[in-house]
Amino acid sequence: MSVATEQAQVPRRSRQELVRVTDLVKHFPITLGIVFRRQVGAVQAVDGISFSIRKGETLGLVGESGSGKSTTARLLLRLLDPTSGRVELEGEDITAASGSRLRKVRQEMQMIFQDPYASLDPRMTVRDIVGEPLVVWNRWKNGGAARVAELLERVGLHPDHANRFPHEFSGGQRQRIGIARALALQPKLILCDEPVSALDVSVRAQILNLLAGLQRDFDLTYLFISHDLSVVRQVADRVAVMYLGKLVEVADRDELYRRPVHPYTQALVSAVPIPDPIKERKRQHIVLHGDIPSPANPPSGCRATRLPATSPSPWRSSPRRRVAQAMRAAPGIRGRPGPTGSRRPGRPARTARAPA
Ligand SMILES: Nc1ncnc2c1ncn2[C@@H]1O[C@H](COP(=O)(O)OP(=O)(O)OP(=O)(O)O)[C@@H](O)[C@H]1O
Ligand SMILES: [Mg+2]
Repeated sequence: MSVATEQAQVPRRSRQELVRVTDLVKHFPITLGIVFRRQVGAVQAVDGISFSIRKGETLGLVGESGSGKSTTARLLLRLLDPTSGRVELEGEDITAASGSRLRKVRQEMQMIFQDPYASLDPRMTVRDIVGEPLVVWNRWKNGGAARVAELLERVGLHPDHANRFPHEFSGGQRQRIGIARALALQPKLILCDEPVSALDVSVRAQILNLLAGLQRDFDLTYLFISHDLSVVRQVADRVAVMYLGKLVEVADRDELYRRPVHPYTQALVSAVPIPDPIKERKRQHIVLHGDIPSPANPPSGCRATRLPATSPSPWRSSPRRRVAQAMRAAPGIRGRPGPTGSRRPGRPARTARAPA
């Protein structure tokens, strides 16, 4: 029995953790001045998030534009250095990894990008693009060309496509090339940053099916980033909801969609259409006001200040355990700070008003 098939027998909940992120922070400094540069502020792109991903699991990361999803993925890959916090891969702290150790870490993690047009070098053939990781890791001489052909076939392309350039492919085919490249080094974790957002609906379904098939065959672990909750519902085992650099809720997929605890999650879930016109007409939609605030100057206290005052209270219908989890994930859920920031600590909001 292959390793992948053996692991697939183990229920997801009892599998080992592949990634653990603890209190991860990334603040980008805002500087002024040309000769004497001085810091005048910071963009709080990621502001103290913690989560874990088990082997063979898909964690969906959802949130509006600018909430810090891509920054989180770049921090995991160590394309960015965190301001503080800790990232562990299979129990090993990789936050300060450098040199050959960092190269090894990057071999275990790969990324699939949002834009299939911008993420492939137009001057390279598909063979060069997919085979580049093998060349970098000195594996090309060991049957590199055959490996490229095998990968192309596995992602639904023809081995002859290896001689073509990216502009000769459709968007869906280009995304398949990106996936083949990500698979070249047999990674354990794939960070999918909005992999289907730029594709039309039918191609989107093909790519999602392909990702699911690859996960089964190679026992891959995914961090699946998207702003589209209906896509995440199809692919994820658990879902983390991000807002303005913070995780407001992390829960199992079905539980999150059935009974979202945080009012912000409730607003997002209420925006997902139901394919039943009668149910859809009866549903109450929670509409968020305005745009996401600037992460350079986030609101104090809980950051989700765009909820209508009438949004349902998270304490009414949710199991206590989930409320406690949401509170731990986003302490501001406990009460709404007044205009002067006079929130009474430790007391949940008592009315049906959004605690924001
Ligand atoms: N290198 C950088 N320097 C300064 N600010 C940055 C940098 N990278 C990202 N940011 C800021 O961090 C915030 C989060 O950006 P990020 O790209 O992580 O958002 P996102 O959730 O992926 O959004 P989208 O859904 O639009 O891709 C944004 O306000 C962005 O302007
Ligand atoms: Mg992004």
